[in-house]
Amino acid sequence: MTNNSSGQLALTGGTPIVTAVPPVWPVVGEQEVQWMEQVVRSGKWSWMGEHEEAFSSDFAEFLGSKHFLCLSNGTVTIQCALQAVGVEPGHEVIVPGLTWVATAQAAMDIGADVVLVDIDPETLCIDPAAIEAAITDRTKAIIPVHLYGCMTDMDAIMDIAARHDLKIVEDVAHQHGSRWNGKAAGAIGDAGSFSFQQSKVLTSGEGGGISCSDDEVYETSFCLKQVGWTPGPESRPGNRYGHNYRITEMQCVLLRGGLTRLPDHIRTREENAARIRTELEQMGGPLQAVRRDPRVTCQSYYAMTLKFDPELAEGVTRDQYLEAAGAEGCSLGKPYAPVYSNPLLNLYDRTSPIPYRDPARVQNYAELNLPNTERAVADTAALLSHVYLLGDSEYIGQLLAAVAKVNDNLTEIKRHFASAATE
Ligand SMILES: Cc1ncc(COP(=O)(O)O)c(C=O)c1O
Repeated sequence: MTNNSSGQLALTGGTPIVTAVPPVWPVVGEQEVQWMEQVVRSGKWSWMGEHEEAFSSDFAEFLGSKHFLCLSNGTVTIQCALQAVGVEPGHEVIVPGLTWVATAQAAMDIGADVVLVDIDPETLCIDPAAIEAAITDRTKAIIPVHLYGCMTDMDAIMDIAARHDLKIVEDVAHQHGSRWNGKAAGAIGDAGSFSFQQSKVLTSGEGGGISCSDDEVYETSFCLKQVGWTPGPESRPGNRYGHNYRITEMQCVLLRGGLTRLPDHIRTREENAARIRTELEQMGGPLQAVRRDPRVTCQSYYAMTLKFDPELAEGVTRDQYLEAAGAEGCSLGKPYAPVYSNPLLNLYDRTSPIPYRDPARVQNYAELNLPNTERAVADTAALLSHVYLLGDSEYIGQLLAAVAKVNDNLTEIKRHFASAATE
């Protein structure tokens, strides 16, 4: 595996180690192409067509949840799921400081006050102890986000929910098919929110959905998606509030096709991640896989979560290390910025909810500083995309060889960046 790890760094003009072609994303099958043509010719392009019905029931079965409802993206799913479980304006919703901004924004947009708390430095998911410390008499719900390549500790989350009578909306935008003690992410809390946006492991370009097993949560979600209409075959206007958050038949064609491949993709990524974990450990060095919690019985990877230890990097920073690996053809990503630093959360614009909040009641996001979140984002977290985890044995071997080459040349990397800084 570490063959070819000597030689001049690609960073300084040497030859990149990775020569194999990376996998492509998204993947599409002939079946979808045929279905798509049929849908286009049928004229039934939206609103509970055959493909939406079929995908919703197949995906509910895959998750082991009673209901699954498709919506137009994975942001409105969070809004609707929160409202469906009972969140109202003025309630507090606890959200991790590290997630895509939509998790927090969705709660803000329905009038809830978002309370951001710190993450577990190993998993990068919300820290249950930080949740406990943030609970007040206004707290109504928690959004655990199963981020990148680790699940949130759902035993701890469900225990907190039971003790404090709180609702749980799992954000499963990243982990379609992950399982905690055999139970699917999205089927553990009161509702699960999924995104099917282009980069996700099950995708229709855009799209989203809500999983739940409670009939009332389903009915409210349905009304919110479909202008207040009642669910079921006799669906018709009711006396409830709602929007148009519908999905199209064309998107559901893509989702049905993707779902047939999802179990195989999950397996391939799990196998490659296991190999990467083992070989990184054998190799030693600053870049390692994070601990795999044995309660995660299936890990669906949006990205493999890696940790970089600056103490073992001979003065090379995480960003310099990633740049050197990237030059070798091993492209490793960095996490999102802390949610509270996102301009959307700090925008005093008339179209943002922020100016209409009582500052005494909400966190001052612009001044927030959550130490584990800050450190992961700035110095220690790294990610290997789910796309690369679909690579064949040769490709994965080359990625590992690239990491080995970087590890063998830390002094040279440090010298390179030091001289670049003085030029
Ligand atoms: C963790 C998380 N939550 C929610 C979303 C929102 O999904 P969408 O882009 O489909 O609105 C995303 C999308 O990237 C996400 O990564």
